[in-house]
Amino acid sequence: MYYIDTNILMNAVMLGILGIAGLLLIVTLVGAWRGARGRVMSYLYMLTAIFGTFAAITVVLGARGSLSRDRPWHFFLDMKYQGKYTAQGPSQYFADGRSSRLPPEGTIPFDGTAHSADAGYHTVPHADFLQADRRYYFGIANPDAKEMKDGVEVPIKPKWENGQLVGEGYYVNHIPPTAVERAGGWDALFRRGQIQFNRHCAVCHGTSGRGGAGDAAYGIVGAYGLSVPPANTLTAAIQAQPDGQLFHVITHGVRQMPGYGHQIKDVLDRWAIVAYLRVLQYAYGNERVDNK
Ligand code: HEC
Repeated sequence: MYYIDTNILMNAVMLGILGIAGLLLIVTLVGAWRGARGRVMSYLYMLTAIFGTFAAITVVLGARGSLSRDRPWHFFLDMKYQGKYTAQGPSQYFADGRSSRLPPEGTIPFDGTAHSADAGYHTVPHADFLQADRRYYFGIANPDAKEMKDGVEVPIKPKWENGQLVGEGYYVNHIPPTAVERAGGWDALFRRGQIQFNRHCAVCHGTSGRGGAGDAAYGIVGAYGLSVPPANTLTAAIQAQPDGQLFHVITHGVRQMPGYGHQIKDVLDRWAIVAYLRVLQYAYGNERVDNK
């Protein structure tokens, strides 16, 4: 297909204009030198002036399309040059060199959800968005109650004495009264927990909470095989865990079990699951259950 390159075309036009201007200039100069006068000469002067101006403009503007390695002239800076960090740019100010800073520890997003879960538009602010109640929102009694074991910091467990819990460790021993209150009593809390447990936990641990793998599995996922079988949640060891620890397992997971805090967003639902797990343990926990 034929086409005319616009650059070539414009160069030809430019050359034409320059050529005519040059020719006119020569003719006018020769005429003036010879002392010619009259109408023709005045037309020549006028045309030379017009074409000369036009040629000068064409030469200046024509250079606009050409490449240059020089920095362009900026007459209106419009904040083009400013001290700022570009994306992923290093920082000389912070010791770790990151210019994108993480939010300070303990930062709480506006509506109080976990910041991994918080995004978008909220019409109504959360009633207690600061999550100031550590026991209710995090199941933690004393954040400083940690000890070193084999070089790892672990939460301190509450002590048992004569079948009774003595004092509290890192996690709260009991479901916070706020949860019972907000659910509308224990009965409502258990029922809420049953729905949530069957929805989120039963696939792996079974509706009975016994977990297990292969033929002995109570949950669907366990029956098809996980690298680690879902734990039997009715054992004495898990019965002995404080309520806050179960809350923590549901929220953040444990070893091979993933956390469900992002999915079970309502804190109350997580406490309800803890309550229902206690019901299961109370109902079935004392009989011998095998977890092959
Ligand atoms: C994807 C399958 C899966 C789901 C869903 C699941 N779990 Fe687990 N859970 C596991 C596995 C696997 C383990 C054993 C982890 C290990 O020992 O590495 C476990 C362990 C546990 C334990 C024992 C923790 C300990 O300290 O030993 C508890 C309690 C528990 N799960 C409760 C729950 C509750 C409550 C839910 C519902 C919110 C739930 N799980 C949902 C797979 C699951």
